[in-house]
Amino acid sequence: MDVYGLLGNPVGHSLSPPMHEAAYDELGMDARYVTFEPDRTALGDAIFGADALGIAGLNVTIPFKQDALEIVAPEDLASRIGAVNTIDFSGSGPPTGYNTDAVGALRALHDHEVSLEGARAVVVGAGGAGRAIAFGLADAGATVAIANRTEPKAHDLAEEVPRATGYGLAELGQLVANAEVVVNATSVGMETDVSPVPADALHDDLAVLDAVYRPLETRLLRDAADAGATTVDGAWMLLYQGVEAFEIWTGREAPVAVMNEALRSRL
Ligand code: ATR
Repeated sequence: MDVYGLLGNPVGHSLSPPMHEAAYDELGMDARYVTFEPDRTALGDAIFGADALGIAGLNVTIPFKQDALEIVAPEDLASRIGAVNTIDFSGSGPPTGYNTDAVGALRALHDHEVSLEGARAVVVGAGGAGRAIAFGLADAGATVAIANRTEPKAHDLAEEVPRATGYGLAELGQLVANAEVVVNATSVGMETDVSPVPADALHDDLAVLDAVYRPLETRLLRDAADAGATTVDGAWMLLYQGVEAFEIWTGREAPVAVMNEALRSRL
């Protein structure tokens, strides 16, 4: 039996086990996906121990994504983002670290026929999620405006990301009015029914991805739908980061529809 897992703290409510195990069932794989909550000081032991035990692959989540970068051999995008969320043990050298959050956002947009080459994209937020998404969008050929409540963080991130510029939230309406893609990478909309983007800036030439997936239908996405924009909810991003991890680990095409169903039935 192959064992895959998730390192994080807390991981009790993670949707990754049912999503991945639905894929194993669908493909007739003898595999399980389990969660682990190691002590923060024991992350290296946990990763190398997993390798020694023959665990086939690990996801990594909060609070370990940045620390994991120092322990594994990160591929280029993970290294630029500064965070690892997927570890592959199949090579002969040290475990390889990937960041599938960025690719997850890109595949979620691609799935909704949003083209990114040459697009003007706005990322709201310059935290961990904002970093991953900004690097991903830039790699896909978009120009990226990063707008953050704490404006200096947006400028700092924009210096690292190709074709990116940093802004405060005051400029957000103007940026969105002139953009083709907007991604919410803040937690705004999770606890309260508010949107980080002024509704009157949304328009029908826009695709809006909200990284928030609880609730699935955020105020931002409702406003975007009202404005005639293409909407992509946070479950798509969650789905495709998992799909990408599955494909890295197994080398097989993931059964996306089955994984999507397993995820959405639990949200
Ligand atoms: P994550 O890893 O999920 O991105 P994070 O690194 O803590 O979490 O980043 C949270 C992001 O949401 C930040 O961009 C934060 O803005 P600040 O850098 O100004 O803190 C943003 N954010 C959180 N609450 C917000 C709010 N009420 N309004 C606007 N932005 C908010």
